[in-house]
Amino acid sequence: MKRILFILISLTILSCAQQEEKNIDAYEPSIIPQPVTYESTDDTFVISKNINLDVKVEDDQAQTYVNGFIDFLTSAAISTNASTSDNTISINLNETEKEAIGSEGYDLEITKNSISLSANKAAGIFNGLQTLKQFFPVGFKYDETNKIALKGANISDYPRFAWRGLMLDVSRHFFSVEDVKSYIDKMSHYKLNTFHWHLTDDQGWRIEIKSLPKLTEIGAWRVERHGRFGSSRPYPKPGEKATYGGFYTHEQIKDIVQYASDRNITIVPEIDMPGHMMAALAAYPEMSVKKEKKFVAPGSKFSEWYGNGKFKMLIENTLNPADEKVYEFIDKIFTEVAELFPGEYIHMGGDEAYHGYWEADPTVRSFMKKNGIKDSHELQSYFVKRVEKIISSKGKKTIGWDEILEGGLADGAAVMSWRGIAGGIEAAKLGHNVVMSPTTFVYLDYTQGDYSVENKIYADLSLEKTYSFEPVPEGIDAKYILGGQGNLWTEVVPNLQYAYYMTYPRAFAISETFWSPKEKKNWESFIDRTEAHFARFDTENNNISKAVLDPIVRTYTEDGKMMCTLVNNATGTDIYYTIDNTYPAKFGTKYTGAFEVPKGSLSLHTQTVRNGKAIGRQLKIKREDLTKRVERKERVLIAED
Ligand code: ACM
Repeated sequence: MKRILFILISLTILSCAQQEEKNIDAYEPSIIPQPVTYESTDDTFVISKNINLDVKVEDDQAQTYVNGFIDFLTSAAISTNASTSDNTISINLNETEKEAIGSEGYDLEITKNSISLSANKAAGIFNGLQTLKQFFPVGFKYDETNKIALKGANISDYPRFAWRGLMLDVSRHFFSVEDVKSYIDKMSHYKLNTFHWHLTDDQGWRIEIKSLPKLTEIGAWRVERHGRFGSSRPYPKPGEKATYGGFYTHEQIKDIVQYASDRNITIVPEIDMPGHMMAALAAYPEMSVKKEKKFVAPGSKFSEWYGNGKFKMLIENTLNPADEKVYEFIDKIFTEVAELFPGEYIHMGGDEAYHGYWEADPTVRSFMKKNGIKDSHELQSYFVKRVEKIISSKGKKTIGWDEILEGGLADGAAVMSWRGIAGGIEAAKLGHNVVMSPTTFVYLDYTQGDYSVENKIYADLSLEKTYSFEPVPEGIDAKYILGGQGNLWTEVVPNLQYAYYMTYPRAFAISETFWSPKEKKNWESFIDRTEAHFARFDTENNNISKAVLDPIVRTYTEDGKMMCTLVNNATGTDIYYTIDNTYPAKFGTKYTGAFEVPKGSLSLHTQTVRNGKAIGRQLKIKREDLTKRVERKERVLIAED
């Protein structure tokens, strides 16, 4: 009798527990980038304190990725030591490769008590784990009294492009090893697999080259200046101490390379030449044409820009392409770079090289004559080909900004198209591989919100515009497009949190553009998922731009009146405004169509509202600034611009 009672009680407890589990709502994930196929099911995987992890991956790299996932579970207070648990996560490398998913794809199934992840290669395991982590609620920690469940799913997924990247400029501002790691870690969560590290420029040389020690002893440091970069900063005074800067030692670089590799990320190091070399020339002025002593640029103005890509460098910042010693110098640099970075590509820069000092110099001119080089463009092409030979002698492939195409390019070199997509089209037609990173779609230093609340740079780039990018131009064989990347130049980005602000959420758009099938891209779905990821950054206390929630304000004139329109890109929102110097805007008028801006000394206040709650920022724009927008003296962030 006692026994029967015990069984009855046990069954009751069990059935209550099951009942309870049935009532646990499954967390609805917002996956970025959108998987190739994703079927959401009614199953729920209730997270338990112990989960049985069944791993069959005889591959060190895959095991490293799995260890990263174990760390994730541990920090969520979930133990994986319990082979007694009803819940199992199994992770397998396929014994027979599944062609459809390639080397970076994966299959993921979430059912009642089991999660199964399989892939052909370690990279696929990594990517599948990133998707799986996004099934967990933001900042999840196991809590016995507040259980949660993962939503059932069937996913089969693989990337559209092999090169999915971000570039970080560490010359204009120095980012510590910890900052760089953090930047790399975050991009890996979104299946971005290429970190382009812009290591050298006029404002600082950041990589230790042991055979050329002055590059970092002198080139890594500049005098400290504040204020607007490239305009109001004074030149260094004679004898002034250079205190701002830093560089990465070989040991630190190896550590970062390993850290990136543990996150399925390849690093492409860039040594920008023959231009953008002022920091190197501060250390070794004999590598320039005029051989004059110079300083590492502290952000003071030393160039003039005339539009249409025409410019003048007021201080020489180019290597001398007519001096054999320069090629010996470059050889030494790339010998060490090639040893430090295991990836297949080295980036040689090649952009914005000013030819004026070459053209004016009699020795360079006589070199050109002797070698049958007809103009400075051919001279740059001669330089690029010599450098490409040096890089390939180290067992690496060359990639460079699209200027390296000018005058012909060595076979096997790849082109990074930044001045629009024209360079990419030309390169692909010539049979070169291309990485698309046009200013117009993926330049992450460009202003992403309204000027009344954002720093004004020379151009704008909204999230919607980034999302609209199609990397394969019509008529181009897609096989030449390796993929693409976003570029973060850091003239006005002095620290990691602001780097995040400028990078995200536009990097979500970049991730989806280069991972997801073209036909799967959908702005409404993307913006909803993006908002869910705002919470991830907020929970981690990382800075993400929510500019996309703000109204877009445009003005025009009609019958002598100034009219104003307000648009918003997020879903399910209204816009409210006032035009009588009162605020907050939420208590003003709901926007329903263009309205007149009355005359007088007044400001527009406007903000986005969802379900009665103000979201995004309240903009305040003075009438005189609204007038400038009519006259287009001031560019306005326009989604479809
Ligand atoms: C570049 O933006 N100068 C490549």
